[in-house]
Amino acid sequence: MINVTKTYLPNIKKFKAYIDKIFRSNWITNNGPLVQELEERLKEYLGVKNILLVANGTLALQIAYKALALQGEVITTPFSFVATTSSIVWEGLNPVFVDIDGQTFCIDPKKIEKAITLRTCALVPVHVFGNVCEVEKIQKIANRHGLKVIYDASHAFGIKYKEKSILNYGDISTLSFHATKIFHTCEGGALIIKDDELYRKAKKMLDFGITAPDQIGELGINAKMNELEAAMGLCVLDEVNKNIKEREKIHKYYFKNLPQNLTFQKRNNNNTSNYNYFPVVFESEEQLLRVKAKLDEKKIHPRRYFYPSLESLCYLSRHQTMPVSRNISRRVLCLPVYTGLERNTQDAIINILRVSLK
Ligand SMILES: Cc1ncc(COP(=O)(O)O)c(C=O)c1O
Repeated sequence: MINVTKTYLPNIKKFKAYIDKIFRSNWITNNGPLVQELEERLKEYLGVKNILLVANGTLALQIAYKALALQGEVITTPFSFVATTSSIVWEGLNPVFVDIDGQTFCIDPKKIEKAITLRTCALVPVHVFGNVCEVEKIQKIANRHGLKVIYDASHAFGIKYKEKSILNYGDISTLSFHATKIFHTCEGGALIIKDDELYRKAKKMLDFGITAPDQIGELGINAKMNELEAAMGLCVLDEVNKNIKEREKIHKYYFKNLPQNLTFQKRNNNNTSNYNYFPVVFESEEQLLRVKAKLDEKKIHPRRYFYPSLESLCYLSRHQTMPVSRNISRRVLCLPVYTGLERNTQDAIINILRVSLK
């Protein structure tokens, strides 16, 4: 069976050596040495000053909102994984959607100001499929209205914008290290926080708000990454550049050989890519469903990332219409991309698309 992605598993000997070390030290969680080592290595790899490792990318978003003491309305995109919206609702905030640009699939900055009210406290854009948002325009809007900016950068691991890490934009950027991601720790995530004081506050929050033995100085939660996850991360990080190069080859082959009547995401010219996703947009939902059924027959399972458009979630109280996101989400499919995807499988996918789109 071929899925949209396959978890990247690093060198097993190296992983086992870390496990032996964990068994010898008997230290498996609570900010252990491997979590600390991974934080240091990620700071260097990503080019960021402050990073906090957490149990998953959803908790990273929740801690970001809590650390910034957000209240009221949060402007976000309807075209993302459900966690971008559910984390907002879970924290008792009201998501207000702003539609996306139909070519880049990122939030459309031209539409943001119309959605701002006296209750708006923050913007939560997503660098969707690793395509960088219009960060300068977004920051100008935030400055004009005194809003915080939290980037859901779950897809933007290692991405550089104008030759610097994209993770340094906004007040906080969050990452997901879920097993489906280019860099993963089985489950995991991170917050990148520019301001040192805010960083120290968030650090306490992810460990129950404990500030010293026998002292609780903050409202906190348990969002700690453990040593086994950090061990996986250290091994995957050693191989991440190789993994990205392999995926780049797969992307190039798709681009060269897929039929031209498909639409591709328009990438921001100023950012690098990590090749985690390969989204294609069909002419209609019917065409997408036909192709998907043919691929399913061959046990090839692309995913409808992202469907449905998030303004349609059943638990949202407010009715909002997002025509561009709705239209794209009905027609978009992410094709399989992962290290080890064989050329003949890629050819089979390309052929099915070619025949179906004639
Ligand atoms: C855009 C986006 N935001 C948030 C998340 C949530 O991350 P996690 O699964 O690590 O909780 C994901 C995960 O896939 C994601 O793609």
